[in-house]
Amino acid sequence: MTLGVRVRVPATTANLGPGFDCLGLALDLWNEVDIRLIGNELKISNEGEGAGILPANAKNAIFRAMKALADQKDIPLPAGIQITSRNAIPLGSGLGSSAAAVLAGIFSAGSLFDVKLSFQEQLDLAAELEGHPDNVAPCLLGGLTACMQTEHGVVVRSLPLKEMPILIALPDFNFSTRVARSVLPKLVPYKDAVFNISHTLMVTQALQEGDFDLLKEAMQDRLHQPYRLPLIPGAQQAMEAAYRAGAATVALSGAGPALLVVCRYTEDRETVAGVMRTQFEQAGLAMRYFLPGIAFKGVETKIIHE
Ligand code: HSE
Repeated sequence: MTLGVRVRVPATTANLGPGFDCLGLALDLWNEVDIRLIGNELKISNEGEGAGILPANAKNAIFRAMKALADQKDIPLPAGIQITSRNAIPLGSGLGSSAAAVLAGIFSAGSLFDVKLSFQEQLDLAAELEGHPDNVAPCLLGGLTACMQTEHGVVVRSLPLKEMPILIALPDFNFSTRVARSVLPKLVPYKDAVFNISHTLMVTQALQEGDFDLLKEAMQDRLHQPYRLPLIPGAQQAMEAAYRAGAATVALSGAGPALLVVCRYTEDRETVAGVMRTQFEQAGLAMRYFLPGIAFKGVETKIIHE
């Protein structure tokens, strides 16, 4: 019998406006990865998002996370590993595809090599490998999470929130997190820091209460969006058009280029997506959109019997 495991990992949207590097939300859009210990070589196949782009060799992020866990626990990696990914999370979009890959690797290795990692160990290893605990935390736990980097590791808490209609607008624009971080200033004005602290607190309250008016007021940012948004053609105009079409609030999803839109009514989402697409097209970019619910649960693992 082959030893195998299936891991499902959700997309995530980080920041939620002002909660830069600390807030994240899991979305009901999943990558499903089957990992089997079989044969005598590494075999990787990718279907769906990222097919033909994601590395199908030892540079693959899922494999590297498996190896990191095996190395940490002094477990020799078997030669025969087969990784089959069916991906729904777009790459390099601000939807946490790399956090999802890292957690798929850690969870599959934990299960296949029978390593019991504590939640804190999973979190710290994933955050160390991926670099963005604000994506890792909601991918692990589902729902809305807050995280805090401390000297002793990452501290995470789940926060309560109500279901709400979400639209993700994704322009066809290459905007890597590395570039998106490189454009941020080294120092920010004191009043901008205070602006973000107060607005972040109110975002968490608005999400808990399902208060769209408060969310609209609160989901404003001065630490990253003003520096990033102008670099994405049509993004500012798409954001303004979304508000005119009735969106409750719009923010950059993670480092972008995707935009997170919260609508007041489920049926508004397609209309809002349409006006945003028009703006991106006028700026020369195609745009796709997704209508995911919130994933209230995080990464799932089950043993494959065959
Ligand atoms: N908080 C990070 C950023 C998320 O905005 O750069 C990266 O996905």
